[in-house]
Amino acid sequence: MTVPVTVTVTGASGQIAYGLLFRIAGGAMLGADASIKLRLLEIPAAVGSLEGVAMELEDGAYPLLSSIDITDDPRVAFEGANIAMLVGARPRTKGMERSDLLSANGAIFTEHGSAINAAAADDIKVLVVGNPANTNALIAMHNAPDVPRTRFTALTRLDHNRAIAQLAKKTGTPASHIHRVGIWGNHSNTQYPDIFHALVDGKPAVDVVDDENWLVDDFIPTVQERGTAIIKARGASSAASAANGAINHMRDWVRGTRTDDWVSMAVCSDGSYGVQEGLISSFPVTCAGGEYTIVPDLEINDFSRSRIDASVAELAHEYESVRELGYVSD
Ligand code: NAD
Ligand code: LMR
Repeated sequence: MTVPVTVTVTGASGQIAYGLLFRIAGGAMLGADASIKLRLLEIPAAVGSLEGVAMELEDGAYPLLSSIDITDDPRVAFEGANIAMLVGARPRTKGMERSDLLSANGAIFTEHGSAINAAAADDIKVLVVGNPANTNALIAMHNAPDVPRTRFTALTRLDHNRAIAQLAKKTGTPASHIHRVGIWGNHSNTQYPDIFHALVDGKPAVDVVDDENWLVDDFIPTVQERGTAIIKARGASSAASAANGAINHMRDWVRGTRTDDWVSMAVCSDGSYGVQEGLISSFPVTCAGGEYTIVPDLEINDFSRSRIDASVAELAHEYESVRELGYVSD
């Protein structure tokens, strides 16, 4: 057994965490030979309920789980963390716009970014799940100036999985036969799910589908609005599927992607594909050796260009808003 990996999860008594923690403890994220120390962070009012979650984790008698610590202090939670999954945030409820969440969450991600800067391990990898995820990741990144910007990411893997699922349904193909779908931009209803490079059973998805109306009027809006549809149906935002996306994201970042496929991650833009440098924007990426690489040299047609630009413009606007609110400095 290797040295335990310290995994910090915030919002640890919430819905997504309940779908996440038991799978992490079972090895679904880091593999069957990685021993894990769990550090669970909650607000003081939720620590009591977190104690119950910790009891359940203990009762799993997971062979890989070497310790469980619970705390309401971010400095304690991120001490020595190798992996941080920032789930804790105020979730959007019915009728609430994502933009309303910017100021509500700015303070949380400022505090968590600073604590990561002060206390996390040198190899820290951060995944932000709590919405607005891209901009929350940007705030945390700006408040952790000593941590390389490449270590801050946000979750668009759920959107990626949703896009695969819709394409699988449309083409009557198992999800495992669909490759090279990509999500660009923001985890919001401006995101652009791109199938122009996607393959269905090895054939170009656009040829297999051969239905532009479906692409424009059905596929793209369905993926963009899926989170809202789930909130409407469930009365709460997606939880198990979000936890699954988060596991997929971190598993692939740490352990690598398939050689013939790519995944989607929101990462700090290096200016690739004309996306403003410094924004946390979703791209198709591959992962190897614990690093991700934005897939290079993809041809972007005019249709995709305008959709990517629209979502990136929204990210730039969110950036301006949080800059004006004082959560980021430049
Ligand atoms: P939830 O309300 O069930 O749980 C959130 C938990 O975070 C609560 O227990 C709360 O006490 C805790 N929390 C709040 N502030 C905190 C802080 N400062 N430190 C530590 N913990 C804190 O919500 P949920 O359903 O688990 O969703 C969590 C977040 O994930 C929401 O913002 C939601 O919108 C978002 N989400 C993102 C995606 C995605 O794909 N990126 C998908 C679904 C949901
Ligand atoms: C989702 O995509 O399911 C969530 O991000 C929706 C939300 O706003 O919480």
